[in-house]
Amino acid sequence: MVFYFSGTGNSLQAAQAMLSPGEKLYDMAECLWKKEFTFHVAPGEAVGFVFPVYFGGLPAAVEQFVDKLDMPIKPFYSYGLLTCGGSPSGAGEALYTRLKKRGFPLHAVFSVVMPDNYILLYKIPEAEEQARILNKAALWLDHIKKQVDQRSHNDVHASLKARMMTAAMRPMYERARTTKHFYADDQCVGCGLCAKRCTAHVIVMEDGRPTWTEDKCNLCMACARCGAIQYGKKTAGKKRYTNPILKKAGGSHDQDSHAVAGGHEHGADTAGAAGHVHGGDADECCCPAPEQGGGHDHGTAAAQSAVHDHGGDEECCCPDPTMTGEE
Ligand SMILES: Cc1cc2nc3c(=O)[nH]c(=O)nc-3n(C[C@H](O)[C@H](O)[C@H](O)COP(=O)(O)O)c2cc1C
Ligand code: SF4
Ligand code: SF4
Repeated sequence: MVFYFSGTGNSLQAAQAMLSPGEKLYDMAECLWKKEFTFHVAPGEAVGFVFPVYFGGLPAAVEQFVDKLDMPIKPFYSYGLLTCGGSPSGAGEALYTRLKKRGFPLHAVFSVVMPDNYILLYKIPEAEEQARILNKAALWLDHIKKQVDQRSHNDVHASLKARMMTAAMRPMYERARTTKHFYADDQCVGCGLCAKRCTAHVIVMEDGRPTWTEDKCNLCMACARCGAIQYGKKTAGKKRYTNPILKKAGGSHDQDSHAVAGGHEHGADTAGAAGHVHGGDADECCCPAPEQGGGHDHGTAAAQSAVHDHGGDEECCCPDPTMTGEE
């Protein structure tokens, strides 16, 4: 059983790499939304927690999920797998401490460096650099999977330096995850994808534009995969990041079903006349209602002129496909 949280796909890729045949993947954000916290572990089954490091710690949704997690039978083996842009700092120990408070063990912590998606501070690496980082990550994930299969234990405690890094950064997360700086600029075509992608379910569409309904969110950057989403003055003109697993047909990030057994793929039937394959996720399509197949009905006046079929980047309804991750 693998629990994951992901804004831009890195941790989903990592979580999928940990799956053994028949094992299930649970999206912690969706479990939180659906208030599903009770899980039954099979004898000997490994339980994984896979998520991105945020400010040296856990994403808010992961903290909230772990605080409510209920497993009547304690796992025989559990591990954390943290994806990060540079260093996990003390995030592994933070997971250990959080789980311990709930009476759950954590036997190992692994981390993997993947492209940094934090566009509020950094620039997204160029495509070649992204590919280099992702290739290296894939090899490392294979290695971690072997460790998990062997039920390897390691020291889950952080070094003093890592702990200090986390202590210094964490208060910044609380300040940064305010939604008041988010807005959609005039590139927005009202497709509604940002609302659909939001891991905190705090975006609703009003008059064809996204509106934030709560003061705080996870700051996961899923909405900011679209280049029309800005955060104050920090993001305008910046390239956006999406892990290739969310762009590829055959991915399995299915927002409508929070439990996924391996990858699945909608074939030509679902894709219909549009002639493109949805990766088990309406999220993959830049259209508001991809399930409608070829005759895409865009919801807003601005978008209506863009009724199209998908064939290439220039045909995408997103404001700037190179910035939305829908390349
Ligand atoms: C709000 C936020 C804070 C982040 N903080 C850190 C950090 O402290 N250290 C780090 O190495 N990477 C940090 N990152 C980068 C992500 O951990 C990294 O890109 C991760 O793989 C993204 O995973 P995802 O694609 O599954 O969302 C941060 C990203 C975000 C959005
Ligand atoms: S174009 Fe971008 S900002 Fe506008 S609704 Fe679609 S995803 Fe959201
Ligand atoms: S508003 Fe955007 S950054 Fe915040 S949780 Fe939702 S998708 Fe993530």
